[in-house]
Amino acid sequence: MEEPVPIAEIANLDLDVQEDDDIVDPWNVASKSDTGIDYEKLIKRFGCSKVDDELIARFEKVTGKPAHHLLKRGIFFSHRDMHSILNIVEAGKQFYLYTGRGPSSDSMHLGHLIPFLFTKWLQEVFDVPLVIQLTDDEKAFWKDMTVETSMKMAFDNAKDIVAVGFDLEKTFIFNDLTYIGQCPEFYRNMVRIQKCVTFNQVKGIFGFGDSDVIGKITFPSIQAAPAFSTSFPAIFNDKKLPVLIPCAIDQDPYFRMTRDVSARLKFPKPALLHSSFLPALQGAQTKMSASDVNASIFLNDTAKQIKNKINKHAFSGGQPTVEEHRLKGGNPDIDISYQYLKFFLEDDEKLADIRQRYISGEMLTGELKKAAIDCISPIITEYQERRAKVTDDVLKQYMTIRKLKFDYK
Ligand code: TRP
Repeated sequence: MEEPVPIAEIANLDLDVQEDDDIVDPWNVASKSDTGIDYEKLIKRFGCSKVDDELIARFEKVTGKPAHHLLKRGIFFSHRDMHSILNIVEAGKQFYLYTGRGPSSDSMHLGHLIPFLFTKWLQEVFDVPLVIQLTDDEKAFWKDMTVETSMKMAFDNAKDIVAVGFDLEKTFIFNDLTYIGQCPEFYRNMVRIQKCVTFNQVKGIFGFGDSDVIGKITFPSIQAAPAFSTSFPAIFNDKKLPVLIPCAIDQDPYFRMTRDVSARLKFPKPALLHSSFLPALQGAQTKMSASDVNASIFLNDTAKQIKNKINKHAFSGGQPTVEEHRLKGGNPDIDISYQYLKFFLEDDEKLADIRQRYISGEMLTGELKKAAIDCISPIITEYQERRAKVTDDVLKQYMTIRKLKFDYK
């Protein structure tokens, strides 16, 4: 007999949002402040934990590697149960990684790259399997998009993801509209999850209403299912393994629900590592968005486009005149070029030097913009070289249902 859902964690999901609070949910991210989302406040609201110095030190100790700059600089700023994952590793036990993407435009942008770059690093330091879900069904429900179009976008985006450099022997990429029909175990887990969550609960978590299409109402079970290893029998047999999910913080509602359901399905609660958002070119009030060409740097932009976009649109924390700037200095915390360097410039010393010189007024906005362009352009060029090699055939290998290089008995 299955028992009723313990609703403790779900009861917390109906968040008490105040009028001035930042908006962060799977569909909207916005802040009224120049410095962007108040992530400290979000940790309190969501009830997750801060990635603190102690956790970073443990990361380094357990992996024997220096922490990734995205972790050290507080860009992956929050977590749930990350210590449990490190305990598992210390005990010589296994876990796997799960992340995903809702295909939304022909090309991904720089912001989309963040969780994937970090996931790649996690996969390397922990040497574990990774499953990547492309929620083409989600986009068909939410956007004015046919099933065929969303599938096509899923395949295009999957190529963009492969180009990040994931190891074929350790990575399985799937799109819902194909995989769910091929894998009854996945569908069975969906049904198990659907049995555990009421309409009232998803209303509270996601704000669904009476006029939302019914596909939306069940969709959270589809994003939850990959957090249960039995949804991938080809990889894990029927072994129940813990999972770590790196994702942007806006995806947390899905996984609060998943964590609540996991006890009922007799699985460990999924652990999470949450990232903040790469700000839009115009400023930190909004995140980079695929639907706004001028707000975003796309992975298929040319070097010239990148240069123009940063020079023309990147919000500056500098002063209106050179004289004033020399006198008062700039503010890197609202300056978008600086923010991009924080995300992409790996060298800590160089970054600290730029910060100091900008604050003192020695470095001008134009020079800071140039530093951002010089940092991002080669990253994108190298990425584009890898992307050019991802043929249909290469993609097919990643998306084929198969055993990975790990054995589970
Ligand atoms: N809903 C996510 C999006 O719109 C896609 C997604 C599915 C995802 N599964 C995930 C993201 C797991 C992070 C982790 O982008």
